[in-house]
Amino acid sequence: MAGRIPQAFIDELIARSDIVEIVGSRVQLKKAGREWKACCPFHAEKTPSFWVSPVKQFYHCFGCGAHGTTLGFLMEHDKLSFPEAAEELASRLGLELPRPDDGAAPRARIGEDLYELLAQVTQFYRDNLREAPRALDYLAARGLDTETRVGFAIGYAPAGWDAVLRRFGGTAERDQRLLEAGLVIERSGQGESGCYDRFRDRIMFPIRDARGRVLGFGGRVLDQGEPKYLNSPETALFHKGRELYGLYEARQALRQLDRLLVVEGYMDVARLAQAGIRYAVATLGTATTAEHLHRLFRITSELVFCFDGDRAGRKAAWRALENSLEHARDGRQLRFLFLPEGEDPDSLVGREGAAAFEDRIATAQPLSEFLVTQLATQADLSSIDGRARLAELARPLVARVPEGVYRELLLERLAQEVRMPVGRLAELLAARGPAAAAVGAHAQAGPRARLSAGRHPLLTQAILLVLHHPGAARAISDLQALEAIDARGIDVLLELLAMVRAEPELSTAQLVERWRDRPEGARLAELAAEETLVADASAAGRELQTAIARIVAEAGPQRRLDELIELSRQRQLSSEELQEFQRLLAGRRAPSGT
Ligand code: UTP
Ligand code: MN
Repeated sequence: MAGRIPQAFIDELIARSDIVEIVGSRVQLKKAGREWKACCPFHAEKTPSFWVSPVKQFYHCFGCGAHGTTLGFLMEHDKLSFPEAAEELASRLGLELPRPDDGAAPRARIGEDLYELLAQVTQFYRDNLREAPRALDYLAARGLDTETRVGFAIGYAPAGWDAVLRRFGGTAERDQRLLEAGLVIERSGQGESGCYDRFRDRIMFPIRDARGRVLGFGGRVLDQGEPKYLNSPETALFHKGRELYGLYEARQALRQLDRLLVVEGYMDVARLAQAGIRYAVATLGTATTAEHLHRLFRITSELVFCFDGDRAGRKAAWRALENSLEHARDGRQLRFLFLPEGEDPDSLVGREGAAAFEDRIATAQPLSEFLVTQLATQADLSSIDGRARLAELARPLVARVPEGVYRELLLERLAQEVRMPVGRLAELLAARGPAAAAVGAHAQAGPRARLSAGRHPLLTQAILLVLHHPGAARAISDLQALEAIDARGIDVLLELLAMVRAEPELSTAQLVERWRDRPEGARLAELAAEETLVADASAAGRELQTAIARIVAEAGPQRRLDELIELSRQRQLSSEELQEFQRLLAGRRAPSGT
């Protein structure tokens, strides 16, 4: 809604506000010389290392490194977005937030109006609940106590078509506002006009934003009836993909949210809170969106997604996982909790109590575990091409995880499953396909450099031998196997070998001269200058032969393995190919020792 706030206005906000006052209204500050200090609100500490400077209008914690301006403080401390923080500061100063384009100016006023209207309607629903024995009985039967009802501002929308309309509508303008708030629906039949209440005879759950303002509602039928839950439509204020039910309440209840539990339903959130698990939030009948995740991770570093154990639940969980990958960073935890079929947090916490439920939370599957076990159901891990398939399935997912410890752990877990050294798996995942670029460092090397990077000492040794004993290359008869290897270092070796085979009398110096203006020239000169360790040419010939044999032995199977994995993506491998694959894998696991 809010566009960019003009820089001049931000300047003014900072100039006219006082950081000591803003911080001081949230943290107990003590004067210390020209500055103020406190125990840092952003990390646990007993002796103050959090300083606020009125001169610089800046805060800084020497303990955890947190620092910033007043706006930054509001964002961090009140968990506000930048526009929200600016708005908060502006309203404290009695300033109107400028709207960049004129179209937005009247909208902003309507927005103010809508908040006010929604607040009044919330109160109206709450008043109605007290007068509605059927609704009260229903809530009692569902085990919600008064405190929870009040805490979540739960209400009741009366039966009938126009309770809200009669109370809050009446004029064209007032009806229009109700429409904009999503509270009434326009009649659309022939010859009909006017509006009617959207929510009728329902338990009303207000959905609040970070500042506690009601944006919309979820309304549940009392008995059977469709739909079971009716949500506010998208409005200027309410966006389903952004809001989370219970987030405001959780932040009110807990100063520090070490973890948030993401559940599916309104009732789950309310019921968990009542049981003492006050850190649950619910998406509003939608999947967890990227925007949800962004919000959640601004507030906490640990998310536990809670789903039904049934197929629908697993599917929803998988969608959440896919959306979470980008957010899987170091220092964050993402876990998945699956409940027994037919249970939800509401029913479970009612039966087992909070402690047992928290035990379940403690055993929730880490993202990596869920990812691997879920993919494993799509591949037969007892077979090699099944494991190759698993790696293939995992590739686009792994590519979305930002580089860092988190991805390393995920790779490790995968490697374990596909029974491959983790480095090799990382290379494999990086080497092919459109996702490769995103996998980072490994991808830059590319398939050509892949071999030389890992086998460089052996190759260098061979090159060194040719350089120091050009004549020794005469002993090398078969270059075909070497030629089949696709790697830059190999090219240099091959070219050197070709030169000395064509002209066996070439000296080291001559060889090096031929490379003078080429990129590898300097490196070859360096190698040529090294101390010669093998004294005689025939010993050098034998060594060179061994080195080349080993290069071939190590590279060949690798390439063949790559080929077979590639093949297995296109079709079922034949039993011969599978056996070959098995042999190659087994061979590679044997220690090589360069
Ligand atoms: P559920 O059908 O699992 O219901 O919907 P619930 O949360 O267990 O509700 P109770 O316990 O029967 O009261 C989970 C969530 O999906 C959305 C709502 O957000 C609900 O909380 N939903 C469900 C809808 O939006 N519309 C529906 O008709 C049903
Ligand atoms: Mn339920």
